[in-house]
Amino acid sequence: MLENKRILLGVTGGIAVYKAADFASQLSKAGAQVHVIMTASATEFISPLVFSSLTGNEVATSMFATPEKPDISHIRLAEKADLVIIAPATANIIAKLAAGIADDVLTSTILATTAPVIIAPSMHHNMYTNAITQENIKKLKSRGFSFIEPETGRLASGDIGIGRLPAPEKLLAAVEQALGEKGDLAGRKIIVTAGGTREPIDPVRCITNRSSGKMGYALAEAARNRGAKVTLITAAGLPEPVGMKVVAVNTAEEMKKAVAKAVAGCDALIMAAAVADFRPKTAAAQKIKKGRGGLKLDLVATPDILAETKGNFIRVGFAAESDNLLANARKKLAAKQLDIIVANDITDKASTFGSDSNKVTIISRTGKEENLPLLSKREVADKILDRVVSLMGGKNAREDGNVPFQIELLDSHINASYIPLKGYRDSFPNLGGKVSLMTTDGDVVETVVKSYGLQGKALKPWYKRNGLHPRDWIVIRAGPLGNYVLDVLKKKAEAKNNLEIVSQREAKSLLK
Ligand SMILES: Cc1cc2nc3c(=O)[nH]c(=O)nc-3n(C[C@H](O)[C@H](O)[C@H](O)COP(=O)(O)O)c2cc1C
Repeated sequence: MLENKRILLGVTGGIAVYKAADFASQLSKAGAQVHVIMTASATEFISPLVFSSLTGNEVATSMFATPEKPDISHIRLAEKADLVIIAPATANIIAKLAAGIADDVLTSTILATTAPVIIAPSMHHNMYTNAITQENIKKLKSRGFSFIEPETGRLASGDIGIGRLPAPEKLLAAVEQALGEKGDLAGRKIIVTAGGTREPIDPVRCITNRSSGKMGYALAEAARNRGAKVTLITAAGLPEPVGMKVVAVNTAEEMKKAVAKAVAGCDALIMAAAVADFRPKTAAAQKIKKGRGGLKLDLVATPDILAETKGNFIRVGFAAESDNLLANARKKLAAKQLDIIVANDITDKASTFGSDSNKVTIISRTGKEENLPLLSKREVADKILDRVVSLMGGKNAREDGNVPFQIELLDSHINASYIPLKGYRDSFPNLGGKVSLMTTDGDVVETVVKSYGLQGKALKPWYKRNGLHPRDWIVIRAGPLGNYVLDVLKKKAEAKNNLEIVSQREAKSLLK
């Protein structure tokens, strides 16, 4: 996602400057065009040559040294940036920015840019917690600057405290998140579960599985980078991703409780966790001693979280199977009434547990199957999220925060055309009665509609009653025109991965 993005990296004179070199390198490897601006103090710690070699771009160190090179003038750099990040940011630069000072190329560029600016402070904990620094940070936050909180640990001085610059991977994640803020999942709330649950036998032993959690983490990070507000409920011990709420759990029961709490008001639940199917009936309070004989465990079934968690949101499940992959996955899709199931063959070497790649088939409730080649887990995550986005009704489905009313009405009495529900009441006040509703995925639900004037919020309970997701595009089919229309619509829905008929004329041309 950083491909061709122009990132300005401001480097200031802090001891963590060595991490900035690695960060610049990671940004470049991710495809970004990285332009580094160093303060005079920063050049005391590390040579600009390091950054120019790693990024392939000249480093700006002075406003006046290279006036003949307009490309690295502060105004050009400011104008062309997609994002600015200062890492490490000294107490000094934070104070200067808060005061609006522009006495070097970095401060001048930041004052001139309209791009988002992220500041990653790094300093001794006394400098960081000093009321003056905290006031400056507060002021900058109120002006729209974003901050990456420093970490607590051993500082360069040998003291323990807050002030460490986070690892380059975390800085990279913050950049990706900021760039994706207005992505196609902006404003959506997505819950992702990950990892294999651990069901205790005694205080030492447990029943678990080989799931690494990597697929779930990839999904959570990809959703975050597309603008979603993500809650990751995890039983995996992977490094905690930034920019999301992380809830750590151990057992299936704990995961169930965490999911039940998190799904309120969510748009999608993606259950990538490998939840244990069985757990020991009781967990011994003390470690079970090694005996001469064997040990018999009494196992009971754990809750089926996905089947038991229903609501007004998209539900995505995973089927890791060793035999009859697609048949078993389809069965699970139907039994749990999922919107999407992701099937992976665990006997395939490419998709083994713990690997960074995955080969999956995505099946949605229409029965449509997408056989993906071997991809990185992050790429697979984006493919799954593409499906989720399309089920949500496309990019602009909920711009106003209300339930959308992009509903089309077909009625054979009115010349087989589609009338958008919006405004329908005025044109055809007398229609009503039993109708079929078709979701974008082709599901047909029979219902009685008393009024065609349903709009916006009024639709919410009605959707709920019919078990539809509020962001599903639906078609109301009234009258006997029948399957022909459904077929046309289904084809269009499949072709576009979404049904989006906006005008009567377009609808008519479809039916020709
Ligand atoms: C060895 C050394 C390490 C320093 N480390 C830090 C640091 O980690 N954070 C900080 O805010 N200042 C640190 N300073 C102080 C800054 O370099 C100093 O405030 C300088 O004026 C910052 O200039 P700049 O913000 O223009 O880069 C350090 C100074 C020295 C000599």
